[in-house]
Amino acid sequence: MTVAIVAFGCMQQPRVPAYTQRVADPYVARRWSSPVFTTAHATFRDAARDFLNIQPRPQQPIDFPHNIHTDDIGVYCDTCHTGVSKSARAGIPSINVCMSCHEDIGDAADPRIQALRDYAKRGEDVAWQRVYGFIRESHVRFNHAPHIRAKVGCSTCHGDVVQMTVAERAVNHTMGFCIDCHKQKGASNDCLTCHY
Ligand code: HEC
Ligand code: HEC
Ligand code: HEC
Ligand code: HEC
Ligand code: HEC
Repeated sequence: MTVAIVAFGCMQQPRVPAYTQRVADPYVARRWSSPVFTTAHATFRDAARDFLNIQPRPQQPIDFPHNIHTDDIGVYCDTCHTGVSKSARAGIPSINVCMSCHEDIGDAADPRIQALRDYAKRGEDVAWQRVYGFIRESHVRFNHAPHIRAKVGCSTCHGDVVQMTVAERAVNHTMGFCIDCHKQKGASNDCLTCHY
C-alpha cells in the first residue's frame, strides 16, 4: 500500500503542469528573505517540529501526581476517567472530584493543594492541558470503550501512568502503532474505521 501511495504521489499528474513548465514565481526572492517561514509556521524550527510531529510538553496549571493517587492510595483509573469503559472519551475529572478528598486531605502549606482549593473557592475548573491528541488534519477518530472491552491495558497506549509524577506523552500514537495491533488482533484496518 505504501509503495502504491508513494508511486502514485510521484507520478506526473495529467492536469498538473510539470514544475519546469510553470512560470517563475515572483515571490520566491521575497519569501526567502522574509523572517516568516510560511504563514502556518513562524520559524523553520516550528515547521520542522510540525513535520516531525513533535508536540511541546504541556505545562499544567498544577502538576497532578498520578503516582500518589494510583500507586500509593490505589484509586482506580476509571474513578477519575469515568468515560473510559463506556464511551469514546475517557474524560478529565472536574474539580469536584478532587475536592471530594481535598476538602480535608492534603497539606495546606503545599502550593498545589492551596491552588486547588482556590480554584474550588472561585468555582473554576482547572484548565488542564491535553497530553495526547491527533493532528486535526489527519481526521482520526478514536473510541476507548471497545479497546477496554477487548482488554487492551491503559499502559499499552499511555505507558506506565501509575508511576508518573506528571502525565507525559509516553507512547506515540502514529498510524503504524494502531494498525500493527489491529492486524495482530484481527480488528478492522479499513481506512474508515479510524478516519472520517
Ligand atoms: C484522582 C484522579 C485520577 C486518577 C485516579 C487517574 N487520573 Fe489520569 N488524569 C487525571 C487528571 C486531573 C488529568 C489531567 C492532568 C494531567 O494531564 O496531568 C489526567 C490525565 C491523564 C492522561 C493524559 C490525558 C491527556 O491526553 O491529556 C492520561 C493518559 C491518564 N490521565 C491516564 C490515567 C491512567 C492510566 C490512570 C490509572 C492508572 C489514571 N489516569 C488515574 C486524574 C486522574
Ligand atoms: C480518593 C481521594 C483523592 C482524590 C479524588 C484526589 N486526591 Fe489528591 N491526594 C489524595 C491523597 C490521600 C494524597 C496524599 C496526601 C498527603 O500525602 O498528604 C493526595 C495528594 C495530592 C497532591 C500532592 C500534594 C501532597 O500533599 O503531596 C496533589 C497536587 C493532589 N493530590 C491533587 C489532586 C487533584 C488535582 C485531584 C483531582 C483531579 C485529586 N488530587 C484527587 C487523595 C485524593
Ligand atoms: C488502544 C489505545 C488506548 C488505550 C488502551 C487507552 N487509551 Fe486513553 N487515549 C488513547 C488515544 C488515542 C487518546 C487520544 C484521543 C483523542 O485525542 O481523540 C487517548 C486519550 C485519553 C485521555 C484524554 C482524555 C480523553 O477523554 O480522551 C485520557 C484521560 C485517557 N486516554 C485515559 C485512559 C485510561 C484511564 C485508559 C485505561 C483504562 C486508556 N486511556 C486506555 C488511546 C488509548
Ligand atoms: C487503526 C487506525 C487507522 C487505520 C485503519 C488507518 N489509519 Fe490513517 N492514521 C491513523 C492515525 C492514528 C494517524 C496519525 C494521526 C496523527 O499523527 O495525529 C493516521 C494518519 C494518516 C494520514 C496522515 C498522514 C500522516 O502520516 O500523518 C493519512 C493520509 C492516513 N492516515 C491515511 C490512511 C489510509 C489511506 C488508510 C486506509 C488504508 C488509513 N489511514 C487507515 C490511524 C489509522
Ligand atoms: C494493542 C492493540 C490495539 C491498539 C494499539 C489499537 N487498537 Fe483499536 N482496536 C483493537 C481491538 C482488539 C479492537 C476491536 C474491538 C472489538 O472488536 O470490539 C479495536 C477497535 C478499534 C476501533 C473500532 C471501534 C468500534 O466502534 O468498533 C477503532 C475506531 C479503533 N480501534 C481505533 C484505533 C486507533 C485510532 C488506534 C491508535 C491510536 C488504535 N485503535 C490502537 C486493538 C487495538
